Amino acid sequence: LETRAVSLIEAAADAEALETARVEFLGRKGSLANIGKDMGKMAPEDRARVGKLLNAVKQNLESRYESRKAAFERAALDARLGGEWLDLTMPAPGARPGSLHPLTLIQKELEELFTSLGFAVVDGPEVETPWHNFDALNIPPSHPARDAQDTFWLEDTLLLRTHTSPVQVRAMEKFGAPLRIIAPGRVFRNEEVDASHEHTFYQLEGMMIDRDVSVAHMLYFMKSLLTAIFKKDVEVRLRPGFFPFVEPGFELDIQCLICGGPGCPVCKQSGWVELLPCGLVHPNVLRSGGIDPDEWSGFAFGLGLTRLVMMRYGIDDIRHLASGDLRFLQQF
Ligand code: PHE
Repeated sequence: LETRAVSLIEAAADAEALETARVEFLGRKGSLANIGKDMGKMAPEDRARVGKLLNAVKQNLESRYESRKAAFERAALDARLGGEWLDLTMPAPGARPGSLHPLTLIQKELEELFTSLGFAVVDGPEVETPWHNFDALNIPPSHPARDAQDTFWLEDTLLLRTHTSPVQVRAMEKFGAPLRIIAPGRVFRNEEVDASHEHTFYQLEGMMIDRDVSVAHMLYFMKSLLTAIFKKDVEVRLRPGFFPFVEPGFELDIQCLICGGPGCPVCKQSGWVELLPCGLVHPNVLRSGGIDPDEWSGFAFGLGLTRLVMMRYGIDDIRHLASGDLRFLQQF
């Protein structure tokens, strides 16, 4: 019996086989226990002899069992530690370098271009007065743009600016003529959001006031602007456009550069994108800014920065821009 038990214990392939062997020989109903039970029927001298023998076998088996069990436990622990091993001396993956948002990239590029042409970069508040956003820009009180459907009104007296044009007024008030400014910034409209519309987007306003500024000057600057942005000649189309703060007013369209066919969210398949409304500053606007229209004239434009970014980088959904999605942002 002892020989068979020893060989089973020593040969057990895993903790489970070892346990089976323990139950068979050392368990409460195992072989040794059964022999122990039979001892009561033995003669006293036999009982002492068998008892001694039984104890020796039991000790032998128990100690072999314990050492095998310990070996299995050590092996299991080693396996776990091996799997969880972490090399603390390995160099860290390293900080991922950040990148500028595509809107910031284009804004910086345009700021550089215009400062090289003698323009100052100025700023205005995003929360505006109706005077700066509408009245001073010759937009009459009845104009539909003032409607709550288009404008976010904060209180009766304040609103989120619907364009960067109020910065024209603030710049005239502050600096007078002559004047060359650009004003990049965030604007807000009460729009239903979809692939090509956001309630929040970016424009870059431009204004130049000097003596005898004409449409020819305006066109020169607009063309320099587009060549700088697209690094090539892009086809443009000039249409008459109406904005109360310019006269004459124009819509400068450029050929859609991302239009790959049906469903283009930027140009809606027309092939042209309204990018650059512009015109000569209306005399009423000059007057509102404290500048004499008999002495000075100027042009102004309102570049759609968000749309420009989408065209320049072939972004097909405006919602990517504010998504905060690193997979999107890391491409720039
Ligand atoms: N402010 C106008 C808009 O947001 C754009 C514009 C600016 C038009 C300057 C003409 C001159 O639509």
